[in-house]
Amino acid sequence: MWGFKLKDSHAPTHNLGTSLAPDLRFIREDIKAMHAYVVQDAKGMLKLDAMENPFSLSPELGAKLGARLAGVAVNRYPGAQVESLKAALANYAGLPSGYGLVLGNGSDELISLLGTACAQVPQKASVPLQSVPCVLAPEPGFVMYSVSAKLQGLNYVGVDLLSDFELDLPSMLSAVDNHKPAIVYLAYPNNPSANLWSKESIELIIKRVSEYGGWVVVDEAYQPFSSHSWLDEIKNNPDAHRQVLLMRTLSKFGLAGVRIGYLIGPSTVVAEIEKIRPPYNVSVLNAECALFALEHAEVFSDQARIICEQREKIAQHLSKLKGVKPFKSEGNMILVRFEGDNSYAVKIFEGLKLKHILVKNVSKMHPLLDGCLRLTVGTPEENAQLLAALDELCASLS
Ligand SMILES: Cc1ncc(COP(=O)(O)O)c(C=O)c1O
Repeated sequence: MWGFKLKDSHAPTHNLGTSLAPDLRFIREDIKAMHAYVVQDAKGMLKLDAMENPFSLSPELGAKLGARLAGVAVNRYPGAQVESLKAALANYAGLPSGYGLVLGNGSDELISLLGTACAQVPQKASVPLQSVPCVLAPEPGFVMYSVSAKLQGLNYVGVDLLSDFELDLPSMLSAVDNHKPAIVYLAYPNNPSANLWSKESIELIIKRVSEYGGWVVVDEAYQPFSSHSWLDEIKNNPDAHRQVLLMRTLSKFGLAGVRIGYLIGPSTVVAEIEKIRPPYNVSVLNAECALFALEHAEVFSDQARIICEQREKIAQHLSKLKGVKPFKSEGNMILVRFEGDNSYAVKIFEGLKLKHILVKNVSKMHPLLDGCLRLTVGTPEENAQLLAALDELCASLS
C-alpha cells in the first residue's frame, strides 16, 4: 500500500515507492488548479469565525440525545425518519400550502443541486448548447454561490453592493437583463455584511427575474437572528413568488455539525429537485438529531434571543471605540471596519489570534470589505473576552 497521504490536488505525486504515479488526465483542469477547502485549526482558540451557535447542549439534553441516537437503526438506509424530519421542518417553518421541501446535507448541497438542475447538458451530441446558464449574486456574498456555479459549468456573475452593503438596484437589474440568470441568490441577511436588503429592491428583482422564468433563491441561513423572513412575503403574495425558492439551514440554529439544509418552494419545483437529490443524502443520525432539536426548539430560540441581545451589546461597545465601525447586523455576526489601511485590521486580527481568539479576516475578500473583520457572536463570557481583547488592542495599536 502507498504510505502517504494526499494533502490536496497539488500534493507531490513522486516518492510513491513505485514508478507509477497516478494519472490525472481525466480530472478537470480547473479542479486540479483549485485548492481544497481548508477548515482552520481552531484547537485551543475561542472560535468566533464561522457563525456557529456558541452554546453546546446541556448535559441533560446531551444524555437524552445520546439515548435517542442509540435507538437508531444505523444498519438501515435512511427512510421514514427523513420523512418525519421533513414533516417536522414543514411544521416548524410554517410551509405554505402548495409548497414542498427538499432536504440537503447542509445548504451547501442544496446550492449544488440547484446548479445541477439548471446546468445544460447536450440532449443529443449533434445539438450544440444554446448558451451556458448563469448564476448571479450580489458581492461580497456567500462564496459557495460562485464556487458551486463554476464547478457545475455555469457562468457566474457577481454584482457589487453599494458601499453601505445595500443592493445596487440599477446594476442588479441591468445585470439581470443582460445575463438572464437561471438563478439569482439573495442572502437575507447577507454574509458577511449581515444586513437585510431593501424590500422594494428585492421585490423588483424578483419581478424582473420571474418575467423570463428565472429563479430567485432567498437564502435565509441567518433567519433565527433576523427581524424579518421572506417567507411572510411569499405567504402574503404567492403569485408574485412563483419563481422564488427559500433556502434555510439548521447550522446557525445550533446544528452546524449535523448538516441539515432545507429548500422550500412550489411543489412542482421541489419535485424536479427531488429527482437529483442523492437518495440517502441525510443520514439517519443527522435526521434523528435534527428531529430531537426541533422537539426542543424553545431551547434554541432562547439561545437565538441571547445571541441577538449580545449582538447589540457588542455593537454598542464597538461603536464607542475610536476608528471602529460596526455595521448593523441581523445575523449572529457583526461586520466591523477598522479604519485606516487594511494593515490595521490585519494587526487586530493577528493580535486577537495571539490572544487565542479566532475571528474571520474578510479584509482581502472584496474591495468593499477593506479593513473589515467579521466577528461571530459568542456566549456572554466569550463576548466579554473578545471585547476586552479588542479594547486592549485598539488602545495599544492606535
Ligand atoms: C448565506 C449562507 N448560506 C448558506 C450557508 C451554508 O450553510 P450550511 O451550513 O447549511 O451548508 C452559509 C454558511 O455560512 C451562509 O453564510
